[in-house]
Order: sequence, then C-alpha cells, then structure tokens
Amino acid sequence: MSIRTPLILVLFLYFTFQTSDAQIRNQTSDFPWSPSENRTLVSNNSVFAAGFLQSPNSNDRFIFSVYYANINETTTIWSVNDDSPVNRSSDLLITGSGELQLAGIKFPGSPTSSNMSDPILRLSDDGSLSFGNWSSFQHPTNTIVPNQNISGTILSVKNGSFRFDGKQLTFNGSYDPKSQYYSNSNAFLTLNELGMIQLENGATFITSDFGDRVLRRLKLDDNGNLRIYSFDSKSGEWSVVWQAMPELCRIKGTCGPNFICMYGETYDSTVCDCPPGFQLISGIEKECRRKADVIRDSKFLQLDYVNYSGGPLAGSQRSILASNFTTCEAECLNDPECVGFGYKYDGQRYCVVVRQLYYGFWSPATEATFFLRVDKSETDKTTFTGLTSILETSCPVQVSLPLPPDESNSTTRNIAIISTLFAAELISGVAFFWVFLKKYVKYRDMARTFGLEFLPAGGPKRFTYAELKTATNDFSITNVVGKGGFGDVYKGVLTDHRIVAVKCLKNVTGGDNEFWAEVTIIARMHHLNLVRLWGFCAEKGQRILVYEYVPNGSLDKFLFHAGKVNYTNEDEDIEGNKLLDRKPILDWGIRYRIALGVARAIAYLHEECLEWVLHCDIKPENILLGADFCPKISDFGLSKLRKKEDMVSYSRMRGTRGYMAPEWVKSDQITPKADVYSFGMVLLEMVTGVRNFDIQGSKMDSEEWYFPRWAFDKVYKEMNIEDILDNHIKGSYDSRLHEDMITRMVKTAIWCLQDRPEMRPSMGKVAKMLEGTVEIIEPKKPTIFFLGDD
Ligand SMILES: *[C@@H]1O[C@H](CO)[C@@H](O)[C@H](O)[C@H]1NC(C)=O
Ligand SMILES: *[C@@H]1O[C@H](CO)[C@@H](O)[C@H](O)[C@H]1NC(C)=O
Ligand SMILES: *[C@@H]1O[C@H](CO)[C@@H](O)[C@H](O)[C@H]1NC(C)=O
Ligand SMILES: *[C@@H]1O[C@H](CO)[C@@H](O)[C@H](O)[C@H]1NC(C)=O
Ligand SMILES: *[C@@H]1O[C@H](CO)[C@@H](O)[C@H](O)[C@H]1NC(C)=O
Ligand SMILES: *[C@@H]1O[C@H](CO)[C@@H](O)[C@H](O)[C@H]1NC(C)=O
Ligand SMILES: *[C@@H]1O[C@H](CO)[C@@H](O)[C@H](O)[C@H]1NC(C)=O
Ligand SMILES: *[C@@H]1O[C@H](CO)[C@@H](O)[C@H](O)[C@H]1NC(C)=O
Ligand SMILES: *[C@@H]1O[C@H](CO)[C@@H](O)[C@H](O)[C@H]1NC(C)=O
Ligand SMILES: *[C@@H]1O[C@H](CO)[C@@H](O)[C@H](O)[C@H]1NC(C)=O
Ligand SMILES: *[C@@H]1O[C@H](CO)[C@@H](O)[C@H](O)[C@H]1NC(C)=O
Ligand SMILES: *[C@@H]1O[C@H](CO)[C@@H](O)[C@H](O)[C@H]1NC(C)=O
Repeated sequence: MSIRTPLILVLFLYFTFQTSDAQIRNQTSDFPWSPSENRTLVSNNSVFAAGFLQSPNSNDRFIFSVYYANINETTTIWSVNDDSPVNRSSDLLITGSGELQLAGIKFPGSPTSSNMSDPILRLSDDGSLSFGNWSSFQHPTNTIVPNQNISGTILSVKNGSFRFDGKQLTFNGSYDPKSQYYSNSNAFLTLNELGMIQLENGATFITSDFGDRVLRRLKLDDNGNLRIYSFDSKSGEWSVVWQAMPELCRIKGTCGPNFICMYGETYDSTVCDCPPGFQLISGIEKECRRKADVIRDSKFLQLDYVNYSGGPLAGSQRSILASNFTTCEAECLNDPECVGFGYKYDGQRYCVVVRQLYYGFWSPATEATFFLRVDKSETDKTTFTGLTSILETSCPVQVSLPLPPDESNSTTRNIAIISTLFAAELISGVAFFWVFLKKYVKYRDMARTFGLEFLPAGGPKRFTYAELKTATNDFSITNVVGKGGFGDVYKGVLTDHRIVAVKCLKNVTGGDNEFWAEVTIIARMHHLNLVRLWGFCAEKGQRILVYEYVPNGSLDKFLFHAGKVNYTNEDEDIEGNKLLDRKPILDWGIRYRIALGVARAIAYLHEECLEWVLHCDIKPENILLGADFCPKISDFGLSKLRKKEDMVSYSRMRGTRGYMAPEWVKSDQITPKADVYSFGMVLLEMVTGVRNFDIQGSKMDSEEWYFPRWAFDKVYKEMNIEDILDNHIKGSYDSRLHEDMITRMVKTAIWCLQDRPEMRPSMGKVAKMLEGTVEIIEPKKPTIFFLGDD
C-alpha cells in the first residue's frame, strides 16, 4: 500500500493536469478560466471550439473566441474582446452576483441574476456560446454562421467604422459620420446550410456553390466587404462564394478624402491614387492634399471614369439637370466652393457639382467623367484617360445598306454615295469633338433600346438555371442561334422582355467560384465594340453566360454568304412565316469601320483592361454586327476559362489554315501577338471576301497556297490591288475614294500576318495604322514556317 500511494498520487496529478490542458466537451462550469491554462471547450459535434486565442498582434495577449475546431488556419466566428486583448493572468469567471466577466468586464448583454439555476457556459453544435438565456448569437462580432439570426443584429469591424445592420453597409469615418455604400430594401434574415440567404420578403440570394453541405460563414471583412465563405476540405481553404461588393473601390472609406481608389495588381486589391494637382503627404496616415490652396483662375482637368459624387448629399454636392456640358461647367465656375463636377456624355443631363472630394473611385462602369477644378497655373497632366477614345470609336453613324443588287449599275452608285457620306462624316468627326458627342448620344439612345441600362453597377447578375430554362424555351433546338467552340448559343427572352443570347459553355475548368470571379472580370470590360455580358448562371456544374442579343448575326454571314438566300429562325414576321434572310453586301466604308472597331476592342482587351486579356479565337464568326452594323466582339475572356491544352488541341484540329497563329501549332508561348495574327487574317478576308482556307480558282496550287502570301504577291509583285478585292463589290471600287483606305487595310493585314510574333505590331499600333494616324512602312512578305520563302 505504502508503495502504491505515490503512484496513485502521480496518476491523479497526471490526470488533473490532463483535464486542465485538454478539450472539454459541450459545457463547463469550471471557473475561473485563464489563458495560461490552455483549455478549450469543444462543441459536441467537434466543429466549434471556444477558448483563449493568441492575439495576432502579440504573443502575450489573448482573445476569448469561438472558432472552428478542426481547421488549420484559425478562423474565429465570435470573440468578446477583439478590440482589447487581455494578458495571461486575466480570468474568465462568474462573479458572486452571477455575472459572466472577462478581466473584470461583463460579457455584453449577459444576465446578472444570481438566481440562475445553472451557471454553466455551453457551446452548441451550431457554434453559439450560451450562458443562461444569453447567447453569443445575439451579439455577433463580424461573422454570422448558418442558423444564426441576421436580423436584429449588427456586424461591425475596425471599431465600428464599417457596419452591416441587415440591410445596409455603412462607413463611419471622422469626416463623414454615416455613409451607405450597399443597400438592400429587404433585410437579410438567415443564411442556411445549403448556401441560401433568406430575405425579408421571401426573396433569396444563393451562393455560387449552393446546395453543397459545407461549412459556411457570412463575414463583414476588414475592408468593408460583406462576403460568404465556404470551406473546401480538400484544399483546407476558405473561398468566397458570394459578395455584396464585387468592385472594392465602391466601398466608401477604402481611401481617404481626395484620393481616387484604383485596382491594384489583382482584382482583389486596391491602391489609393492622388489626383493631378494634388500631392501625397506621407505620415502615420497618408494624406492627399491640394498643391495650391487658392484657385484664382480655374481650369478643369478631365478625369475619365472617375466618380467623386458619393459624398454626403448635404452641402458637399449638388445634382442638377444640365442641358449640356457648358451649363454644367458654368454651374461649377459660379460656385466659389466648387472643386469639380461630374458629367456624363449620354444625353441624360447627368451633372453633379461637388464641393468635397470624398470617396473618389475609378470604374469603367461609371461611364462618366469628372472635371477637377485646379488653378490655371497647374502643370500636372491628367492620368485618367480613355473615355474620349471610346467616344471616337467607329460606331456612331447610322447607315442603311442596300440589298444585294439585281442590277449592278445602280448599286455601284448607291455604295459610292454611302461611302462618300461616310468619308465626309469621318473627317468632320475628327475635326469637331462636338460632332462626336452628338453621335455618341445618338449611339447611347440606340444602346438604351438594347437595354444597356439594365446592367447592374454591382456586377453581372446571377441567373438561376430555371430562369434561363424558361427564357430559352427549355433550351429548345429552335432557339439555337449559334454553335461555337465554347458551346451552343440560344436566343432567349427574359421575364422583363429583354432579348438575350444565352451561351452554355462546355469543358470549362475550375470551380464555381473561379468561374464567378472570371465572369465578374469579363463583365467589367466595357467597350462599344464588345458584346455586353449581363449575367451568368453557375448552378450544379452548369456554366452559362447571358449576353446582350446582337441582332444582325456574325460577320461571316455577310462576307461569305452575302446575297445567298438563307432561312433563319430569328426572322419571322408576325404570323410566324419564315422570311428570306438576304444579307446585304457590306460596302468598303462599312468594312473599314468594322475593321477599326474590332481593332480598337482587341486593343482595349490587350492594353486597357484591368486584367490583361487575350481573346485567342478571333474569326468572323466571333464578330457580331449590331443593328447599325457596329461590330461587337463576342467570346472575349473565355479563353481564361479553358485549359491551354484544350485550346491547343482545338487549334490543331482546325488545322493551320484557320485563324490560329503559327505559335499555337509550334507550341510556342502564346502572347497578344497571336490575336494580332488572327485579326490580320480576318482583315484580309474582309478585303477579299473569301475564307483564307478556301481555294481560289484554278491558278492556285493547293498544297503550297498560303493566303497572306498570295495577297502579298498580288499587291506587291503584280502591283494590282484590284485583283484581290471582293468580287461582290469590286465594281464599286473607286481608286480615288477607296485606294488609301484599302491599301491601309491590306498593308496592316500583312504586317499582322508575319510569321514571327515579334514582327507583328501591337494591337494598339494596328488600330493606329488603320486610322491612318501612323505611317505604315512597306511590310515584309508573309511566310509561314512550314513553307519555303518562295
Ligand atoms: C451536451 O449538452 C447537453 C445539454 O446542453 C447535454 O444534454 C448533453 O449530454 C451534452 N453532451 C455531452 C457529450 O456532454
Ligand atoms: C497549449 O497547448 C498546445 C499544445 O497542446 C501548445 O502548443 C501551446 O503552446 C499551449 N498554449 C499555451 C498558452 O500554453
Ligand atoms: C454528442 O455526441 C455524441 C457522439 O459524438 C452523441 O452520441 C450524442 O448524442 C451527442 N449529444 C448531443 C446532445 O448532441
Ligand atoms: C493583466 O491585466 C489585468 C487587468 O487588465 C491587470 O490588473 C493586471 O495587472 C495585468 N497583469 C499583468 C501581469 O500585466
Ligand atoms: C433571486 O432570488 C432571490 C431570493 O433568492 C429573490 O428574492 C429574487 O427575486 C430573485 N430574482 C430574480 C430575478 O428571480
Ligand atoms: C434573460 O433573463 C432575464 C431575467 O431572468 C431577463 O431580464 C433578460 O431580458 C433575458 N434576456 C434575454 C436576452 O432574453
Ligand atoms: C430568430 O428570430 C426569430 C424572429 O425574430 C425568432 O423567432 C427566433 O427565435 C430567433 N432565433 C434565434 C436562434 O435567435
Ligand atoms: C479600436 O479602438 C481602440 C481604442 O479606442 C484602439 O486601441 C484600437 O487600435 C482600435 N482598433 C482599430 C482596428 O482601429
Ligand atoms: C461614428 O463614429 C463615432 C466615433 O468615431 C461615433 O461617436 C459615432 O456615434 C459613430 N456614428 C455612427 C452613426 O455609428
Ligand atoms: C493541418 O496541419 C497538419 C499538420 O500541420 C497537417 O498534417 C494536415 O494535413 C493539415 N490539414 C489540412 C486539411 O491542411
Ligand atoms: C447649352 O444650353 C444652354 C441652355 O439650354 C444654351 O443656352 C447653350 O447655347 C447651350 N450650349 C451649347 C454649346 O449647346
Ligand atoms: C458615383 O457613385 C455614387 C455612389 O458611390 C453613385 O450613386 C453614382 O451613381 C455614381 N455616378 C456614376 C456616374 O456612376
């Protein structure tokens, strides 16, 4: 016995030590509880744990938190003292009067009654910590988990500077007490386990991975965004499956007064830019200050796509209806406190006169320009440009085309007249900016009828599969309007009567999330010559994109089938009779405009987009024509959704005579110059009116025949450009009117079709070559690696 006692004592000590160091299931009444004990309370299902966690800022400070028990990267869902971590010797205890306290401070809202029947701290399977009738779920910090009520609670971060009250996201800064940047008219009620947010009026939001049973949490992030995260147990990481603010710069308070919020290297980062005329003052907090305090004589610097009009309405800004730019400008000049004004060239009389430069941000979706008032002596140049070049795109002229001729003489005259008109308009357009603006307004009105204004500022709309099924008549075969490499395209009508093109993608890699992120990026690309993306659907493996419907179909129909009679599904008269679809022949002026518009849109994708985008599949089928024959590129951005191997095998399958640059076949690195090559091919086809892989007459040796080389020889060896012109409209070619334009198109095409990518010009340069704003030197003869030099 005497020998055994110490052993029992040792065992006893060992076990007490173990219990104080181990996990406690479900509930505890063992107080005080201090950070030095290293004990955790774990929910019965082992999903959640409660206990002291080290403060991220100090090894010696602790935060009492509820977190996920089995996730490597500590993820807190609730904490009592996030703003004031406690030291090692602080206690969590229940006082004699029945208060639950940490380091002498009562848990917010916890009961004080000493009569509590069981003073026990419990952790439930859903993650709620409870003490009597008090529950952590009633006092959330920045996170909501499934089955927790959202309504009636407030999430906040950074000592309350960002808040979510169930309906609105607000920013509370020292210079602006309460500014809202997200608002939903129906309050959020709960998030359920399947990934659906229930709203007050019965409506719902769903996450991109809706339906999967995974861990989820709704969190107000430190940057002010409200997001739902899902846990991927395979990768051990959380990923975003829903967010309130796809454009971070629209979150107020991201940058301080005067700054302009821009996007950083990645889509998920922001930088704060100081506008011209201002300077950055570094200190504890960076400041952006006006260089000269007094403005004696004003001038305005044009900041394209910048919006400064989100400030508090009272006093800091004034919205007026200005009949034109001059009136808006005068409104600012007459106000001594005016620091600038926002104006939109869309004919909608948008004019905001601003007295405080708050919440500046840059976004192509604003489609507006801010005119910043500076002193006349200011020498800084604006760095925010780009809108004017869009105003100058080749779209705005409305033209009606003749139908294919029965009698070639009259058509020749018609085409000549239209071409002359076009040339005249082009010249006047270059000369007078105002002419452009008028045209732009006209275009905008046209755009409006296509429903552009429905595009939500907050990013592409999520459609449910059911909605799209209804819209496309259950994806009926009669609704198919196109079959592309990326999948079939259906025409559909939404419940709001908008007509859309619904593209069901095939072989898309990556998860719903990645898809969502990519789609958000694609939807942020705004250019008159890009097909507008309105929304998408990513339900249960489906990958569907919803685009504006472009009525005239694709360029190939006009180039290669013009004048032939086609029956199509889309052209039916009221009685449902099929109409003959005789595609008109495009005249030289229109071909040139299409080429220029396409070149500018690709240049925009390559050079101006927030993220660098290659198209990788430029061909006439992907160039759609609007009602005014304004070209619109489709399928941009989609190559990012595909694996490179797929793209390569796709191009191999199509053979080398297609539009793919030689580097695809050689498995060399793919650069923007691959798009330049494809564009060159399309450009040459627009001049010749034939497919690059169609054999031309009997003279051609089919084995050795290479379209660009053939064109080069005709133009430069035989010195006869007329030989390569499209037979359909050869007759209307008037060397006096067209020679310069067509020579430019051909020369540019040949430069684009050089075998070696580095020999080809950049797309921006290509656009300039077509415009005629840069001189084009004589191109080298295009060859291709598998053919000899001659
Ligand atoms: C967990 O707590 C409940 C009461 O809240 C109790 O009935 C149950 O027995 C506890 N389970 C464990 C494993 O302690
Ligand atoms: C708690 O225990 C774990 C291992 O069980 C140890 O790594 C950690 O340092 C301990 N923490 C404290 C504060 O003692
Ligand atoms: C706690 O978990 C155990 C098994 O892990 C289970 O048998 C028991 O029913 C659970 N109790 C409660 C109250 O959920
Ligand atoms: C720990 O914090 C408590 C209360 O905040 C304070 O009274 C105590 O002196 C601190 N102890 C140490 C060692 O800093
Ligand atoms: C608590 O208990 C005391 C007597 O034990 C009683 O007088 C008092 O009313 C009780 N308070 C509550 C809130 O139940
Ligand atoms: C908890 O119970 C006390 C009385 O026992 C009551 O005063 C208090 O309002 C209750 N709190 C909640 C959140 O129900
Ligand atoms: C959530 O709110 C509803 C109504 O406000 C209430 O009936 C329900 O008990 C609450 N649930 C929780 C877990 O607090
Ligand atoms: C919150 O406020 C406290 C004291 O007012 C301060 O110490 C702390 O740094 C603030 N935290 C943040 C994130 O601003
Ligand atoms: C904003 O923050 C200040 C302190 O920084 C606070 O006094 C004020 O109540 C807050 N306003 C709102 C609406 O939350
Ligand atoms: C978590 O970390 C442990 C050890 O660091 C590792 O063995 C385990 O695979 C990790 N789990 C996940 C899901 O990453
Ligand atoms: C702008 O509108 C004002 C008032 O409607 C008018 O007087 C003025 O002539 C207009 N200016 C231009 C340039 O159209
Ligand atoms: C500028 O931003 C504010 C809010 O951030 C918004 O209400 C306004 O419509 C925006 N203006 C434009 C032209 O986008």
